[in-house]
Amino acid sequence: MSAVAVRARSGDPAFAADVLTGLSRPQKTVPARWFYDHRGSELFEEITRLPEYYPTRTEIGLLKRHAAEVAELAGRRAVVEFGSGSSRKTPLLLGAMDVSVYVPIDISGEFLRASARALAEAMPGVNVIPQEGDFTHRLDLPSEVAQSPALGFFPGSTIGNFAAPRAVALLQTIGETLGEDAMLLIGIDRKKPVERLIRAYDDSQGLTAAFNLNLLERMNRELDGDIPVEGFRHEVRWNTDHNRIEMHLRAERNMRFHVAGEAFAIAEGETIHTENSHKYNVDEARLLLRAGGWTPLRDWSDEAGLFTLYLASRTKKSLQD
Ligand SMILES: C[S@@+](CC[C@H](N)C(=O)[O-])C[C@H]1O[C@@H](n2cnc3c(N)ncnc32)[C@H](O)[C@@H]1O
Repeated sequence: MSAVAVRARSGDPAFAADVLTGLSRPQKTVPARWFYDHRGSELFEEITRLPEYYPTRTEIGLLKRHAAEVAELAGRRAVVEFGSGSSRKTPLLLGAMDVSVYVPIDISGEFLRASARALAEAMPGVNVIPQEGDFTHRLDLPSEVAQSPALGFFPGSTIGNFAAPRAVALLQTIGETLGEDAMLLIGIDRKKPVERLIRAYDDSQGLTAAFNLNLLERMNRELDGDIPVEGFRHEVRWNTDHNRIEMHLRAERNMRFHVAGEAFAIAEGETIHTENSHKYNVDEARLLLRAGGWTPLRDWSDEAGLFTLYLASRTKKSLQD
C-alpha cells in the first residue's frame, strides 16, 4: 500500500505503515516506539516507580554517586538526551556539570514539551531546547549546541529495545547527530536471574500490562481500529538465544478486526510481539559501543551488578578499523 493511501485513511502515516506491515507478518509485531503516545509516556513513568522495576532506581543511584566524575571527564558540554521522557534523571547530571544548553529529544511530543518546561523552571540557568523527533534518524540539532562539544545522554537502557545490529546502527546515528568530539553517557541493563527480569516486566499492579495494551487502544484511537482489546493478554518471555525480555500481546480467542482500513485475523494463542529488551554484561556492552563507533572510557555499576552506566568518546574515523 502506498504512503499516500495510508495517509488518506487515518492517523500518523508512519504509525499506520508500521502497524499495517507488522500485522501482516507471520509473527505479528509492532515497533516499541509506538508505545509512547501521551498515555503511554504517563504509564511508563508510573512503571519506573514500581518496586519491581529496579532499572530506574539503580540508574538514579549511579548518577547520584558518579555524576561529579562524569562532569570532570566531560568538561563543558552541550547535553543532548535521547528518549528523554520525563527527564527525571537529567537534573542529577546537569546539576553536576558545566552545561551550555540541554536538548531533550523524544518522539512523544506533548509529554516532551511538558517535561522540558518543568526542567527549565527547576534549572533556570540551563537553556532547555526540546526537540520532537525520532532518534533513529540523524537529526539536525539547534545551532546553540554547536557552541561546545556535545555529551549525549541515553539513559533507561532504551538501547536494549533494539536487536544488536540495529543497536549498532543507532549508536552510529547518534554519533553522527552529535558530531565530532562528542561523548556519550549511556545506561544499559545487565543480565540477571530470569525471575527478577520477568517480575520487572510483569508487575503485580498490572501497570506494564496496561502499558502494553495501550498500544492496541492507541491503534483504535488513532488508526480507526476496532480491535477487541479485552481479547488480548499481556505476556512476558525470556528469550535465551537473544538474551532478551520480550513483551507480547496474546490473543485469548480467535478474533477479526480492522486497523487503518485493513482487515486482520488473529488465532487464539497467537501473539503480537511488541517489545524487546536486550540485556548485556559489561564486556558485551563495551563491544556493542565499539561496534557503534564509541570508545568506552569509564563505567560504573551498582554493588549488586544490576545496571551499568558507560561513558564513551566518539571514535575518531582514522581509528575505526
Ligand atoms: C524506556 S523509555 C526511557 C525514558 C527515560 N529516558 C528514562 O530513562 O526513564 C524510552 C523513551 O524513549 C522515547 N523513544 C522511544 N523510541 C524513540 C525514538 N525512536 N525516537 C525518539 N524517542 C523515542 C520514548 O518516548 C520514551 O520517552
